[in-house]
Amino acid sequence: MARKKLAIDKATASKDLSGKVYIVTGANSGVGLETTRQLVTQGGHVVMACRRVESGEEEAKSFKGLKGSYEVIKCDLADLDSVREFVKVFLSKHDRLDGLDCNAGMVNMTNKPIHTKHGFEITMAASYFGHFLLTELLLDILKNTPESRYVILSSVVHAGSPKNRHEIHFDDLHWKNRKWNAFASYGEAKLAVVLYAKELAERLEGTGVTTASVHPGWARSNFGSGGNFLMRAMMAIIRPLTRGVSDSNEESAQTSLHCLISDDARNHSGAYFSQHSVLYRDKECKAGGWPMKSPNPHAHDMDTARKLVDMTYDMVGLAPVK
Ligand SMILES: NC(=O)c1ccc[n+]([C@@H]2O[C@H](COP(=O)([O-])OP(=O)(O)OC[C@H]3O[C@@H](n4cnc5c(N)ncnc54)[C@H](OP(=O)(O)O)[C@@H]3O)[C@@H](O)[C@H]2O)c1
Repeated sequence: MARKKLAIDKATASKDLSGKVYIVTGANSGVGLETTRQLVTQGGHVVMACRRVESGEEEAKSFKGLKGSYEVIKCDLADLDSVREFVKVFLSKHDRLDGLDCNAGMVNMTNKPIHTKHGFEITMAASYFGHFLLTELLLDILKNTPESRYVILSSVVHAGSPKNRHEIHFDDLHWKNRKWNAFASYGEAKLAVVLYAKELAERLEGTGVTTASVHPGWARSNFGSGGNFLMRAMMAIIRPLTRGVSDSNEESAQTSLHCLISDDARNHSGAYFSQHSVLYRDKECKAGGWPMKSPNPHAHDMDTARKLVDMTYDMVGLAPVK
């Protein structure tokens, strides 16, 4: 079966974003780079939050001549101090934030957990803990910007398999006692962000800020390379071989763009958006994305979502907001 090209609708793709300010994490590569390119094309100003600033600057040279603008600010999501520094710099320069796109992510493919200096396993740190701190520190500016959007990148992997649904292991969030499983660590991290987008939607109801989690598709990006040159070279070989079942980075950015810009996405705050996935072949592929019901029952458990958020406040060194 030929894959349908992923796209946002014309009205969304032609909205003038002049004057609007966005943050895209992991903006130097893959889905984040193409999300950034489209926002800049439509006149937006994008703050590219990158752990490798030089890579962000290099990639952004291709935005020359586009209507909008960009800047690159260092942000390593696996380092809470770096996240705090990023927020300090951002707030010193900007007084509005129309969209926060928590796009960055990675998977630790080694045979053992890697712990950050704050004790988090790095897969969950990059996708969830770092983005949690970033988001909570930017909530005020999001609330003060009319109709602002919050998007966080999940993955279809959050669902696990029908026989083995991923769940949040509150007794060992940081993989200190369990047998290491890279696939499960990524699945749990991506489940955590689905739950966080839902919890935020509940907490932010009535503030004008809407939220979404996104599965981008199977992107022919640098995913899995961890910034490593050899892995990137290997990905360059694998990418063409999987072309028939995967999506370009531009296509994979479309669902994030739908959630960041379209009028419709605001009607589904907290929802999980995906246009298609290798694991959902029976679903109709609708251009523009639509909220999809996660097949993982744990992704709908608001008690788990609230408990996770409560615990995370403490873990990232924030006082809970009640
Ligand atoms: N590719 C897929 O098929 C697929 C499927 C489902 C979900 N996703 C999700 O989509 C998002 C984008 O991934 P992609 O496919 O575009 O992969 P990618 O090309 O590898 O881009 C990932 C980005 O995240 C950044 N990143 C990783 N760890 C970071 C950290 N500690 N701090 C700051 N930035 C960090 C990377 O920076 P460096 O360049 O420095 O490594 C890179 O910019 C990820 O959240 C991923 O989990 C991807």
